[in-house]
Amino acid sequence: MSSASITFTWGSEEALWGIVVHGGAGDVPADARERHRAGARAAAAAGASVLAAGGSAIDAVQRAVEVLEDDPVFNAGTGACLNSDGEIELDAAIMEGDGLAAGAVCALPPFRSPIRIARAALDDGAHVLYAGAGAERFAVDKGFTRSSTAEMSSGAARARWEAARLVGGGASGWAGGTVGAVARDARGHVAAATSTGGMTMKKPGRVGDSPVPGAGTYADDAGGAASATGTGESFMRLCLAKTCTDWMRAGMHPQDAARSALALLQRRVGGEGGIILVDRQGRLGLARTTSTMTYAAMSCGDDAPVSGS
Ligand code: GLY
Repeated sequence: MSSASITFTWGSEEALWGIVVHGGAGDVPADARERHRAGARAAAAAGASVLAAGGSAIDAVQRAVEVLEDDPVFNAGTGACLNSDGEIELDAAIMEGDGLAAGAVCALPPFRSPIRIARAALDDGAHVLYAGAGAERFAVDKGFTRSSTAEMSSGAARARWEAARLVGGGASGWAGGTVGAVARDARGHVAAATSTGGMTMKKPGRVGDSPVPGAGTYADDAGGAASATGTGESFMRLCLAKTCTDWMRAGMHPQDAARSALALLQRRVGGEGGIILVDRQGRLGLARTTSTMTYAAMSCGDDAPVSGS
């Protein structure tokens, strides 16, 4: 394990409101890390401004993830990785801890902000998770405009795909650059959101943990909220996001829950990645087993987001 956890001292142990975002577990080169951290700080600040104005945790995590999806350095929305056909397929989920309402899309063709479509599914309430062509039809019915792989893929994502294709590689072992956010609002509600392009060279139709409630994304006011990043297949096998909220409900500090989750992931299924957590008291926690996981956080009383890799 390269790092069981990042030791992090938050501005306050308990907070009226708080938000933490991640820009994916992976191995960001040293000379690119500040650029990634800047993207994460912008997202945390956007979410924090929702919370500071008395907005809800669900609106805050959506806003933060929208900012990350629009930033092409992350593997979500614009800049998402390409599958083995050279196409973008997107996964996203959003969940609120008050009524356990959730909305998600998976294997979605290119749309600029999948988290907004996931939120539309949550608000619509008929179903939780829409896949593939059905997800596209749902999005169009809700007024979203389809984009294209050419419009949304970044040079870096295409270069990674070309490099993997040249060596005849399958899906890369993880999904670095997945984005997510968890928050607690001033009314004591929590929420989580996660969005990803998945893995470079994944097979068409492959779905990771991010859009699956309980696996990569979960929120329950009784415990807290979680957003994961890393090898999605491993997180799914352990329902790790839900496991963390159960531990927090039982009284575990989010920092201990994050550390324990990553240790469990590695021990039981050999998975790698990271996770961000907030509990019902507004305490934040995060851990990673990869070389980097870009993150930024801000709590009530902080002047600006803090960030790290
Ligand atoms: N954790 C994101 C994915 O595996 O797709």
